[in-house]
This record gives sequence, C-alpha cells and structure tokens, in this order.
Amino acid sequence: MKIVEKTIGVMDPNAYSFRETLEALIQYINPEIKWGKETSRIKTRKIKCRPYDVLQAKTTCHAIINRGAHWNPHHNSFFQRVSHQTYLLNDMSSFFAINKNTSYGHMYELGMKIPTTYAIPQEDNSEMENNSKVAPDLIFPEYEMFDLEELGNEVGYPAFLKPQDGGGWVGVQKVNNYEELLSAYKKSGAKPQNLQAAVEGYKEFIRCVGMGPQIIPMHYNATAEFSHDRYMRSADKAIEPKFLDDAVEKEVKQICKIINAFYGWDHNSCESLLTHAGAVHPIDFANAYPDSTLVSLHYYFPELVKNTVRWLFFVVCTNRKKKVFGHDWEQYFGVLEKANKEGWTYQQKMDAYEALADKHYSTKEFEEFVQKGLGKEFDKKCLEFFGTDAFATILDQEVIRYFKIPAERPAMIERYRSLHGIWLEAEKARLG
Ligand SMILES: Nc1ncnc2c1ncn2[C@@H]1O[C@H](COP(=O)(O)OP(=O)(O)OP(=O)(O)O)[C@@H](O)[C@H]1O
Ligand SMILES: [Mg+2]
Repeated sequence: MKIVEKTIGVMDPNAYSFRETLEALIQYINPEIKWGKETSRIKTRKIKCRPYDVLQAKTTCHAIINRGAHWNPHHNSFFQRVSHQTYLLNDMSSFFAINKNTSYGHMYELGMKIPTTYAIPQEDNSEMENNSKVAPDLIFPEYEMFDLEELGNEVGYPAFLKPQDGGGWVGVQKVNNYEELLSAYKKSGAKPQNLQAAVEGYKEFIRCVGMGPQIIPMHYNATAEFSHDRYMRSADKAIEPKFLDDAVEKEVKQICKIINAFYGWDHNSCESLLTHAGAVHPIDFANAYPDSTLVSLHYYFPELVKNTVRWLFFVVCTNRKKKVFGHDWEQYFGVLEKANKEGWTYQQKMDAYEALADKHYSTKEFEEFVQKGLGKEFDKKCLEFFGTDAFATILDQEVIRYFKIPAERPAMIERYRSLHGIWLEAEKARLG
C-alpha cells in the first residue's frame, strides 16, 4: 500500500489552548491511517505570516485550519491564493460576503424561526462626510429618510439593536421602548445595525459548535458576567451532560449543520433560544471564529478538539476537495419549492435540508471512516492524551495567559483541572 505524507496547516493566532492541543494530540496519536488505496502519515505545521511569491505561491498542506484569517488580510490573501491547492476549513470569502443579516434572511426563507429583524443603515456617516473623495451632495440624496419609531413598533419591544457584523457582544444593546431605541441608535456609531425582536423568558440558551457534520450542543448562560463562566450550568453545577430532550437536541443540531453546509463553513457556531412553548429560535449563527478555548468551553473542550482531529483526518485521508466560491443553494431552495407545493411541515423541511447537508459533508463516508479508519483506538488514544502532563501543561498555560491577576491563578488552575477531571471520568466510564 502506498504511504503518503500528509500535512495539516494550523493557523490560529488567538486561541492558544485550541491550537496547541490540536497539534499535540495529533503528534501523540502519530497517525498512520489506512483508507482506500493509501496509508496516510499525518503531521501538522504552524502556518507563519511571511512574504510569499504571489505568482508561484504553493502550499504543501493538504488541509488548513484557518481560524481567524479574516482578521489578517496578508494571511488571508495567501490562503485565498492557494485555496484550490488545499482544503481550507473555512471559506473566508463567504464569511466576508455573508454577514449576520444575510444569513438571518436566508434561513428564515428556508423556514427557520428567526425573530423579526430589520437592518438599519449606520447612524454616523462622518467617515464619508469627511472623505475628500466623496461628494456630500451625492451621498445624501442616496439616503432615504426613515422613521425609527415606526421600525421599533414593527419589530416590537423588547428588542436588541446589534451590529450587522457583530461579535463578542460588542455594541449589543437591549431596548424596551422607543426612547431607549433612539438613544441606543444614536450611540451605535459607524456600523450598520440590526434591530431584532427579543426572545423573552426563554427556557434554554443553546450554543452549538459544528466541525464538519459533528455538532456539539452546549448549555450557555448568557447572564453570567464573565465569558469564562457562560458554559457553567449554575453556581453549584458545572455541567449537565444531557440537558436537552432528544427532539430539541436533534433540532438544534440540524439547524447548525444545515447553516454550516449551506455556506460551506466547516467550523461555525450557532446560538439558539428554546422557548417554554418548545420553539427553537436561532439568533446568532455567522461566527467565523467560534470561541473554542479551554477557559470558555472547559468540559466541552476535549470533544471539540477530537471532532476537529477526526474531521481533519477524514479530509486528508480521503483527499477531500471543496469548491472555491461554491454553494448548493439552488438545491435547498428546490426543496423549499417542493415543500411549499406539497404543504410540508417544518420538521419535514428540516429533515430534507439535513439530507442535503449530509451529502455536502459526505457524512455517511465520514462515519464509516471514523468507525473503520480510526476505530476504537482513536478514542482510547485521545483519553490517554488528555490525561498526560503535556496536556496539563497546556491547561495551566492557558489559565495563566487568560487570567491576568497573578493572585487569581492558582485557584483558577485548580478549577480548570477539576472541570477537566469531570470529562476524564465521564470519558473513562463511556469507554468502559
Ligand atoms: N433576539 C434576541 N433575543 C434574546 N436575546 C438576544 C437576542 N439577540 C441577542 N441577544 C442577547 O445578546 C447576546 C449577544 O447577541 P449576539 O450573539 O447576536 O451578538 P454577538 O456580538 O455575536 O455575540 P457573541 O460573539 O458573543 O456570540 C446574546 O448572547 C443574547 O444573550
Ligand atoms: Mg452571540
């Protein structure tokens, strides 16, 4: 059998624990995977930001995890330049093109329960006004006056005013009436906004993180002051592994998988709110850089890293290709047309879209690969790795980097070790 060396490029300048664990785990597994006509020997390489020959640009990487490339134009230009030679985990061109309100609209059309959302032009135009290349007498006739009060009534209160290209809760403001909306809009500055009806008094806030067809639903406490506390179940309970009933779990996973496949994103997160009446409303699902760090995810962290490794192994062992600028939207809207003609239910539509998403991710082949190509040995090796000193060092380092006050660190290291211990015990029990 032919032995082929495969390289996975790793680019993630902002998530220390995620990238270090990913590389260390792959090195620990030291994979030699037989699949099809090849045996793949897999290693990783960090992708450095450096000059490159634009005309002769080549990459030796068979897959690249390009997390955060959209924040680094030089890096991103290299990735786009070589995108046809490799498998870029995230299609950054679509992340640039598809902002939050575009995806709200598409998913609503497909039948998802997106709250009423209005897109509103930016409040502050001074950048344009002060730009000597732009003629003010030409800009303003292009703008139509609108009545914010009317929009507020249309959407209803309470509502959220948030940037169309938001992230990290920056500029997210809750408004309870027109006066608050006006004052929030006045403060919103140079970024176009979305005004979205609030889902009030929800039963559960669920954040799903997808990696290929694998979706992890996590409980999320949006009221916690610090982002590192948001995945804690409550003050006295770190985790509730089975916190959703089967039907809701299926639904939130479907929503995330469909969105990700629709846009060609292999790694993206989706936040949904479950009401007491049982409806699932997706509210935030175009996240080019989903939070994947250990200080945030703790218990969920090893599973996300494992999902990433499984998916990257599948990509390189099957020589998977991805269409650059590609999408299958006509297939989804074809299903919708049929569904409308035949009067399908929401669930029937979701099942049909999911079938398209599974075709996109080659889910069946992926599952066979996980079962036969990786086998039980994979889970065993991962469990071993997450119990090593090497991983403990990454955990400690992550905590030291994140918590800036030295006096806080020892207690935080203890806390994260014990949270990780919960996962180790659960995983040991699961594997018998
Ligand atoms: N329609 C809504 N109904 C209820 N709560 C909402 C709604 N929209 C936003 N929120 C609240 O505001 C928070 C931030 O909003 P959103 O997730 O849209 O912004 P973001 O900047 O992308 O945040 P992040 O990057 O943390 O995901 C949500 O986590 C949620 O708690
Ligand atoms: Mg969010």
